[in-house]
Amino acid sequence: MSSHNEEHESFPQGPPTRKEMSRRQFLTYTLGGATAFMGAGAILPMIRFAVDPVLHKKGAGEFIKVAEAAKITDVPQEFTFELAQQDGWYASTATLTAWIRKDENGDIYALSPVCKHLGCTVGWNNDKAYPDEYHCPCHGARYTKLGKNLAVAPKPLDQYKTKIDGDWVYLGEIVPNTEVKKEA
Ligand code: FES
Repeated sequence: MSSHNEEHESFPQGPPTRKEMSRRQFLTYTLGGATAFMGAGAILPMIRFAVDPVLHKKGAGEFIKVAEAAKITDVPQEFTFELAQQDGWYASTATLTAWIRKDENGDIYALSPVCKHLGCTVGWNNDKAYPDEYHCPCHGARYTKLGKNLAVAPKPLDQYKTKIDGDWVYLGEIVPNTEVKKEA
């Protein structure tokens, strides 16, 4: 008995019927959906505008003309080149170095000079005690001409993606070394 009275107090015009609830829900969903749709229409272009340069990071996947193919010999040579970078809204130019060489089959490859120990810069044939090797002056890492790690460093030197087009060597992004496997 008392529970019946409480029900009338909470809902003076009687409890809502199933039909009224569903109409209310329908309106809520419709208005909410339309608002969300309009909001997304206004906000998404702004997000895209802000994020777009990050998604389209310039530099990745591009090849840069670095050296004349005719000048590449079986002795590694050092070449430097400029890479235009676009990081978000920030444009900059990085100067990169590659050690380029022709292997026994005449295939040209280019090694990154970044030591795989802690990131110092290696040089070719720069340690008299170990001729014809790459040597890192920081902690003594050594590598073969294919970039195979001989001491200190845990991995072979990385290499650049390489493309020969006409008379020129083009270099692309830096990738893990695949030359060492050819040696084995
Ligand atoms: S950074 Fe090259 S040996 Fe340590």
